[in-house]
Amino acid sequence: MIEHTTGIPKERILILDFGSQYTQLIARKIRELNVYAEIVPFHTPVEDIRNEKPSAIILSGGPSSIYEEGAPRVSDEIFKLGIPVLGICYGLYLVVTAYKGKTAGAGAREYGRAFITIKEKSALFKGLRQKEQVWMSHGDKVVSIPEGFRIIASSENAEIAAIENPEKKAYGVQFHPEVYHTVNGSKVLSNFLFNICKLKPTWTMESFIESSVEAIKKEVGDGTVLLGLSGGVDSSVTAMLLQKAIGSRLYCVFVNNGVLRKDEEKKVMERFRKNMDLNLIYVDASARFLGKLKGVEDPEKKRKIIGKEFVAVFMEEAKKIGRFDFLAQGTLYPDVIESVSTKGPSDTIKSHHNRVPEILKLIKSGKVIEPLKELFKDEVRELGEKLGMAEELIHRHPFPGPGLAIRIVGEITPQKIKTLQHADDILITEIRDAGLYNSLWQIFAVFLPVKSVGVMGDSRTYENVIAIRGVTSVDAMTADWAYLPENLLRKISNRIINEVKGINRVVYDISSKPPSTIEWE
Ligand code: XMP
Repeated sequence: MIEHTTGIPKERILILDFGSQYTQLIARKIRELNVYAEIVPFHTPVEDIRNEKPSAIILSGGPSSIYEEGAPRVSDEIFKLGIPVLGICYGLYLVVTAYKGKTAGAGAREYGRAFITIKEKSALFKGLRQKEQVWMSHGDKVVSIPEGFRIIASSENAEIAAIENPEKKAYGVQFHPEVYHTVNGSKVLSNFLFNICKLKPTWTMESFIESSVEAIKKEVGDGTVLLGLSGGVDSSVTAMLLQKAIGSRLYCVFVNNGVLRKDEEKKVMERFRKNMDLNLIYVDASARFLGKLKGVEDPEKKRKIIGKEFVAVFMEEAKKIGRFDFLAQGTLYPDVIESVSTKGPSDTIKSHHNRVPEILKLIKSGKVIEPLKELFKDEVRELGEKLGMAEELIHRHPFPGPGLAIRIVGEITPQKIKTLQHADDILITEIRDAGLYNSLWQIFAVFLPVKSVGVMGDSRTYENVIAIRGVTSVDAMTADWAYLPENLLRKISNRIINEVKGINRVVYDISSKPPSTIEWE
C-alpha cells in the first residue's frame, strides 16, 4: 500500500524510481509547476499503483544497463492503465522494450551537455526551439523504435533521443528534463503535464494548507497531540500547521538541554508562547544534561547521552500532562522516500530512525502524525512563510540536536558554553548584518581545547581558541568552506577577541566535506 498522511490532491503524478540520482529532482520540478508528484520504488505492485489512480506515470532514469542481468523492469500492465507514461533515460528503454522496440548496449556513451534537434512537431516539445541544450547521461541507446512510434528528436550520439506514440499515450526522452542544464527542461515537463495529461496547476501551498488542516482535523477528531518543539524550521512549521488545525489541543514541549545557542530558550518562548499563543511547555533540564555530560570527551558518548536524556525528560513532562492521543513529528519527504536498490526489491526505509518506541507507548493510538511527510525542505520553508512565520526563522541554518556539546571539542563546562555562545552570537550577528546569512548553508563558532599565547595591552595572555566554520552546501552530504570577505573576517575576529573573555585567537576552518565533516565532533 502507498501510505499518505495529509490530504494530498487527487490529481497526481507517480514517479517510479529506478535509482537515478535525479529522481527527487523530477518530483521537485513537477511540484514547482503546481502539480503534486510522488516517488515510489519501481517494484511497487501494479495493484497498488492502480488503486492510487495517478494521472500519469513517469519512469525515472537509473544506473543499470538494461542488459545487465536482473536489471529492474516494470510490468507491462503499467502501460495498460490508460494513462500517459513518460520514460526518462532508463525509463525510455523500458517504454521501448514494453512496445517491442530495440535498445543496444554501450559503445554510444553520452554524458553531460548535448544538443537535440527537434524532428517532428510534438505536444511534448511545444514551444521549444529547433535545437535545444539538454543533459545526457547514458550508456545504452535505442536502436529501433516500436511500431506506431515516431522519433521526435535526435542528438549527435543518439539518433533516437525522444519518441512518442500519442495514441498509446507513451512518451520517452533520452535526456534528463529535470536537470538544470537542460535549458528548457521545465517546459518539456510542463508540456507533459498540461498539454498531454491535461492537468491543472492546482498544487499550491495554500491548497496544501487547506487540505492538510482538513485531514488533521479528521484524523485527530477531539483528541490531543504531543509535539517536541526544537525551535528549528521543521518542528516549528509542524507546530504552526497543527495549531491551525486543532488549536489548544496541541501540546508542545521545548527542552532546554543547556547546550543551546545564546538566549535561544527566551526567543523560542517569546516567539511561540507569547506571540503565537501556542500551548508550549518549557522544561529547563540544563543542569541535568550538564551533570550527565560532566567529564565526557568522546563525541559519540556526548550524542548518546543527550539523545537518551532528551527522551527521558520529554517523557517525564508528557506524563505530567496526561496521556495523549497522537504524537506529531516534523519528518520531511526525503527522510521517508524508500531508497531504491535496483538489484532487487529493497525494504530499507531511511527514515523513522528518530521514532522512539518508549515515547510511542505514551500515545493512546500509538500513531504518529507527520504533516510534512510529503514535502521537500524548500516547500516546508514556503509553507512556513504562508503560515506567517518570521523570515529569520524560515531560513535558519540547521542546528544539530546535541547542540553546542559537539562544538566544544573535548570536555564541556558551563564556562565554555557561555564563551562559545557569546562568540557564536557575535559571528551570526556580523554575518546577518553583512547580508550573507542566507547564502551560507551553515556558519558557527567552535570552542577548541587549545590554549595559545597572546598579548593584550602590556600583558601576556594564555587563552583559548575559537574556530569559525562556514560552509556552502545543497544537502550537507558534501560541503565547501565558504569564502568570506577579508574585512568581515577581520571585524569578526576583532570583536570576538576583544569582547569574549578567555579567547585570544580566532582561526578560520578551510576544510571541505569530504574528507572533513561540517561539525567538528
Ligand atoms: P556533518 O558534521 O556530519 O553534518 O558533516 C552534516 C549535517 O548534519 C548536522 N549534524 C547533526 N544533526 N544531530 C543532528 O540533529 C547530530 O548528531 C548531528 N551531527 C551533525 C550538521 O549540523 C550538518 O548540518
